[in-house]
Amino acid sequence: MSLLWLKKIPSELGFAIKILLNLHFPGPVKMFFRKFVLRNIIIMNINGKNAIVTGGGRGLGKAVALALANEGVHVAVTGRNEENLKNTVEEIKALGVNAAYAVFSMDNESEVKTGIESLVKQLGSVDILINNAGIGDFGSIEEMPSETWEQVIKTNLFGVYYAAKAVHPFMKANGQGDIVNVASTAGLKGGPNMSAYAASKAAVVSLSQSMMAEWRKQNIRVITLTPSTIASDMSIQGGLTDGNPDTVLQPEDFAEWVRDILKMNRRALIANGSIFSTNP
Ligand SMILES: NC(=O)c1ccc[n+]([C@@H]2O[C@H](COP(=O)([O-])OP(=O)(O)OC[C@H]3O[C@@H](n4cnc5c(N)ncnc54)[C@H](OP(=O)(O)O)[C@@H]3O)[C@@H](O)[C@H]2O)c1
Repeated sequence: MSLLWLKKIPSELGFAIKILLNLHFPGPVKMFFRKFVLRNIIIMNINGKNAIVTGGGRGLGKAVALALANEGVHVAVTGRNEENLKNTVEEIKALGVNAAYAVFSMDNESEVKTGIESLVKQLGSVDILINNAGIGDFGSIEEMPSETWEQVIKTNLFGVYYAAKAVHPFMKANGQGDIVNVASTAGLKGGPNMSAYAASKAAVVSLSQSMMAEWRKQNIRVITLTPSTIASDMSIQGGLTDGNPDTVLQPEDFAEWVRDILKMNRRALIANGSIFSTNP
């Protein structure tokens, strides 16, 4: 049975029901409501929010888009592959929320700004930005062409900067917002054959920490995430993992983590976090 309708009940009403339950009902009834009803009303309190997920057409971004939509969040996705975006939008809409998409490349500031502004208009506002789009190009410093190196930095670092800069005026005007910047454990320590990727992600960590320090006073939570290898087109094609679902992190694991971070009380800010496969 779908419990999506429960997520549309305002959390204030949820608290009222909780108090009533604590006062009047016997143990087993309380247990049932705690498990199946209150979980959906009180804890899952991001319903009705509006989110933009960059790189939402596949991989980690798509998993986060669907996890948020499943919580009642209206979601817009961005990327260059329109087919993927259209398919994702259909899947989001099937969960009963609004969805939209915009096609643009993260390395072009004016495209990012125009695309984000059009999505904010379509959604009505923006509460959450998942700054996820990125590329993984791997190769030695000797062999990788400078153009490839520059493109990785331009997409992964400048893209994150452009998207955050585009949503910030809306969040500032709203007096609240959440920005999740997706870096990588590669940004915490460089390694062979990943100089461009690792440098781009190290810069995202630093940029994101600066954003956090500047914008938390505006009630904007900026969250820097450094996931380790997760099964996706990027990591499997890059030869980083075989993606074995029995042992290797899957996009859904990442999505649940992001969802739960966003559901924390607004007084709490997870500034930085890593996630690893337990024993890949
Ligand atoms: N998978 C991992 O092991 C892992 C670990 C740590 C961090 N990360 C980070 O997580 C994020 C998502 O990675 P993923 O594994 O899901 O990779 P993925 O499957 O390759 O997806 C990357 C996404 O980014 C978008 N994208 C790439 N370049 C773009 C550009 N120039 N303009 C617009 N969109 C662009 C792609 O959309 P289009 O193809 O439509 O352009 C795609 O939706 C990346 O930032 C990655 O660095 C991944």
